[in-house]
Amino acid sequence: MGNVVLKDVSKTYGGTVNVLNDIDLQITAGELIVFVGPSGCGKSTLLRMIAGLEKITGGTLEIDGQRMNDVPPAQRGIAMVFQSYALYPHMTVRDNMAFALKLAKKSKEEINEAVEEAARKLQLTDYLDRLPKALSGGQRQRVAIGRSIVRDPKIYLFDEPLSNLDAALRVATRIEIARLKEEMPDRTMIYVTHDQVEAMTLADRIVVLANKGIAQVGSPLELYERPQNEMVATFIGSPAMNLLPGKITGTGAQTEISLDDGGKAVSHVQTEASDMGKTVNIGVRPEHLEATDGEGLFTGRVDITEALGEVTLLYFETVGTDPALIAKLPGVHKDRRGQKVTMTAAPEHVHVFHEGQSLLYR
Ligand SMILES: Nc1ncnc2c1ncn2[C@@H]1O[C@H](COP(=O)(O)OP(=O)(O)OP(=O)(O)O)[C@@H](O)[C@H]1O
Ligand SMILES: [Mg+2]
Repeated sequence: MGNVVLKDVSKTYGGTVNVLNDIDLQITAGELIVFVGPSGCGKSTLLRMIAGLEKITGGTLEIDGQRMNDVPPAQRGIAMVFQSYALYPHMTVRDNMAFALKLAKKSKEEINEAVEEAARKLQLTDYLDRLPKALSGGQRQRVAIGRSIVRDPKIYLFDEPLSNLDAALRVATRIEIARLKEEMPDRTMIYVTHDQVEAMTLADRIVVLANKGIAQVGSPLELYERPQNEMVATFIGSPAMNLLPGKITGTGAQTEISLDDGGKAVSHVQTEASDMGKTVNIGVRPEHLEATDGEGLFTGRVDITEALGEVTLLYFETVGTDPALIAKLPGVHKDRRGQKVTMTAAPEHVHVFHEGQSLLYR
């Protein structure tokens, strides 16, 4: 088991600083849930409330049907792994992992078995007799995870566990975590990260936190393909989705939009006659823009190009303080710099937002 239910949970620090409201979330045992959101939106706060390290100001937290608001952290069946892995420097990997079990006065056999099993799961068997200083950052982080595994909790909480690692180690350790999760299909994991790729690849479901609440919960591809609002649309995906203001000029099975800068858009989103004339923003991801010789969404001069090898990013000249429109084209296109280009997108890639909310959801 390891079902976690949050009902109308809120958090106010020190009686005045309100950081989270109306958090309703049901997590099923065995799920890997990822929390993402802008810095300061309350991801760590929510995790710490589930762990019992932070008091819940309002609402209820249930684990496997039992109210946990006032249950001490050690009795919640939870282990938490932080960004900074504070290992005991003078203890071997084996002793670091065994420490909590020794405190709990488990037998030698039991401790050995748990440590060896955790080491096997985390590919640390060959390092058990080393001191932490003789390990790479990724291996140390795995030892920190190993310390929590030996206690066999129902629920694992990770707060940006890989953010201290360099790029290559992040990828390697991320894959270890994915593998670990597969080995423990009935254990629940809640994982906070700033890294889009980690969120997209690890999560069964992603929870996007913003403006003191939940902006959307869904599978990674749901959030990418059908964001409910502009917040999620621009937060998931990199570079962020382009937004262009306009008005609805045609409704029905497809929607036509006249853009303020003169372009025309057709979206697969269905609208009703009463939507005619509504002010909207259309959203198009950089990877869905393509150059055209005909009419398009916008025409702009390419200010900067960034060739990343497999793709080239085109940054268009901005008008005023608007963020630059960005296109991501497959291949190398350095020659586009300084050129005037018209960009378009297929109707199925054109999102429509009215007052920040997607017209797909009504
Ligand atoms: N002990 C505290 N007292 C008062 N305010 C706090 C306290 N801890 C956190 N906060 C505030 O609560 C908000 C949420 O903080 P939290 O650490 O949960 O954000 P986060 O989403 O984890 O951010 P990051 O991505 O930067 O780690 C922030 O505005 C922060 O300043
Ligand atoms: Mg945090």
